[in-house]
Amino acid sequence: MKKYIVLALLFISYNGLAQLNIVPMPAEIKLGEGSFIISPSTKIVVLGGNLNKIAGLLNEYLNTTAGFSLKVQSTPASSNAIVLNFEKLDHPIAGAYTMNIGSKEIYIAGDNEAGVFNGLQTLLQLIPATKTNQLSIPQLTLKDYPRFAYRGMHLDVARHFFPVSFIKKYIDYLAAYKFNTFHWHLTDDQGWRIEIKKYPKLTAVGGFRNGTIIGRYPGTGNDSIHYGGFYTQEQIKEVVKYAADRYIDVIPEIELPGHASAAIAAYPQLSCFPNEDTKILESTPWAGRRNGKQVQQTWGVFEDVFCPSEFTFNFLENVMDEVLLLFPSKYIHIGGDECPKEAWKKSAFCQKLIKDKKLKDEHGLQSYFIQHMEKYINGKGRKIIGWDEILEGGLAPNATVMSWRGEEGGIEAAKQNHDVVMTPGGWVYFDHSQSSSDDSVTIGGYTPLEKVYGYEPVPAKLSGDKAIYILGAQANVWTEYIKNEKKIEYMIFPRLAALAEVLWSPKEQRDWKNFEKRLPAIFERYDQQKTNYSKAYYELKATVLPTADFNGLLWKLESKYDFPIQMNFNNGDSVWTYKNATLITPSIFVANATGKGTPLSQTFSFNKATGKKITLATEPNKSYPGDGAFTLVNGVQNEKALSRSREFIGFAGKDLEAVIDLLESQPINQITLHTFEQTGSWIYRPASVSFYSSENGTDFILLEKVDSVNEKRHLHYSSNTKTQARYIKVIAKNYGIIPTGQPGSGNPAWLFADEVEVK
Ligand code: ACM
Repeated sequence: MKKYIVLALLFISYNGLAQLNIVPMPAEIKLGEGSFIISPSTKIVVLGGNLNKIAGLLNEYLNTTAGFSLKVQSTPASSNAIVLNFEKLDHPIAGAYTMNIGSKEIYIAGDNEAGVFNGLQTLLQLIPATKTNQLSIPQLTLKDYPRFAYRGMHLDVARHFFPVSFIKKYIDYLAAYKFNTFHWHLTDDQGWRIEIKKYPKLTAVGGFRNGTIIGRYPGTGNDSIHYGGFYTQEQIKEVVKYAADRYIDVIPEIELPGHASAAIAAYPQLSCFPNEDTKILESTPWAGRRNGKQVQQTWGVFEDVFCPSEFTFNFLENVMDEVLLLFPSKYIHIGGDECPKEAWKKSAFCQKLIKDKKLKDEHGLQSYFIQHMEKYINGKGRKIIGWDEILEGGLAPNATVMSWRGEEGGIEAAKQNHDVVMTPGGWVYFDHSQSSSDDSVTIGGYTPLEKVYGYEPVPAKLSGDKAIYILGAQANVWTEYIKNEKKIEYMIFPRLAALAEVLWSPKEQRDWKNFEKRLPAIFERYDQQKTNYSKAYYELKATVLPTADFNGLLWKLESKYDFPIQMNFNNGDSVWTYKNATLITPSIFVANATGKGTPLSQTFSFNKATGKKITLATEPNKSYPGDGAFTLVNGVQNEKALSRSREFIGFAGKDLEAVIDLLESQPINQITLHTFEQTGSWIYRPASVSFYSSENGTDFILLEKVDSVNEKRHLHYSSNTKTQARYIKVIAKNYGIIPTGQPGSGNPAWLFADEVEVK
């Protein structure tokens, strides 16, 4: 098999940086002529009360970046001063500020402390990140205010644990982009991360697991590493104070009634079936004993949930008592998502409760559960917020809803006059890939930077009087596939900058082209601060197409953002094209890799079917269309399974039937269908694959039916029957319905295929 490595480089030519690279873009800004110089003799003049803390943060920044700090005083200065003050500003959402930078002073006034702090964040972005005694800041006048009151970021510390030092860094990241809420996901099936004094086993037992699956769910093995950790109450207080000093509210999430495996492992009585073992699939790679109640070592949703008993409510109220003392936030997040109802259906206690309380069903019981907790938390002067499943069975009277399964939950809650925070998966799940060719595992999905930037938190379907219930939005960072700090940075940057602008800047101010112009400077900051970030923005879009005579391949490269593309050929030529290029693949060779973006490379495998005309009896499913039928003969063999969704086509419950026209009758020695299986994602191997040949395209003879292969994951079904033919037909029968006990049981299996090879 002949392989060609094709590689193209993307060079960035950038015509001068925009003068101001502030993110999020301020509401009103007017650039002046000269500059103001911050030098060691500049003073910070604190006119408003309680602003010394903010002066301190400015000094901390200057010290680290420039290497000096400034004298702080409360008496006015006639020149060479940075003045911090309050001013009553006419904006309905708190946090507005004005800033005037003239030759004599930098004047920042906020409508409250947070406003001054927001002004400081803008100033910090204007200070050159260089070690010098003369920091030159452009003169300007600026008025700025937030569009949304809720500007949030979430972090899951249950799937993987992150130390206090990183949590503080994360809070710094949020503050720099004027976010004001940190949603701390503290408990889940794989770990309980907050010390509760009354229940020490929550962290001693629930804070640790015996191992973690390797690779993407369901996993190729288990690492058998005892894993865990938790925050002491002293550490929680330290984080909450650190956040408050940066005007960020910390909302703790204590998950209920689902995602409760870790709590149940610590206190089995919280389950409706305390004496039953945690259900672990035979096929789940597991470390240590499988009996008893277990902290989960794999990902997903688990049947053993909190039982709505006296014991559980008493426990949860006691937990909340300690949580409420630690977190002064208005909101307490109670989870509410993905609670399977199997245990409640089986439990005589639950069934009696449903009857006694005249509830409709188990959804009614979920609503009863949430309402019980809401009443308790409201009684302590706080409000609950929960994932959109809390709508099922009736929304608790004062609850705020986080809409994650698309926009619908948010729309529904707003229509019921409930406050809403939008966090829809397709736009703001930062555990999704932002690159179309990620090398490391992500949970799936493709949410590039421009998609986040284009997100509009107020759903178009919502009329004006209901739109007021949209408090803002939040991005979520689930950490099943994020084990370390650098990867968190890689997943959130630069998408965090895009979301900041969505949440802060006036809608009419949001302009992707302008944001793009600021991106190189944004990246330069990340580099200076040694922050990891994704460079997917620079990726080329590549498409494989048939030639006009169906006797070769075309590789089409497009630069999404009008950057020129450079390609290096094997004869040493270097060709620049503007925006896009279409290449006849065999004429290209390996190029040396320099430049800013990750070079794009593609291996093409040529065989008799490559580039030929192909038809399908049934169209692939809309969710997995690949590049249509041509996907199977485009010379691209899938090696990374789901993370390269352009490379295969998928059928839900249906068979694959393809006919390939080889253009002329020729000897055939082998035909192979490439498929893959990933049962955890409902993708199953075909029940059988049949290979046929024909000379006229109408009368096919069966060459061989293959029922099974011995491979795992990437599967190659082959027939070695020798024949002479112009046409080839391949029929892969779908596996059928997913068996019980497996993820997705009862649903039709997916059949995925990426290539047909003919030799
Ligand atoms: C969620 O992503 N399960 C809220």
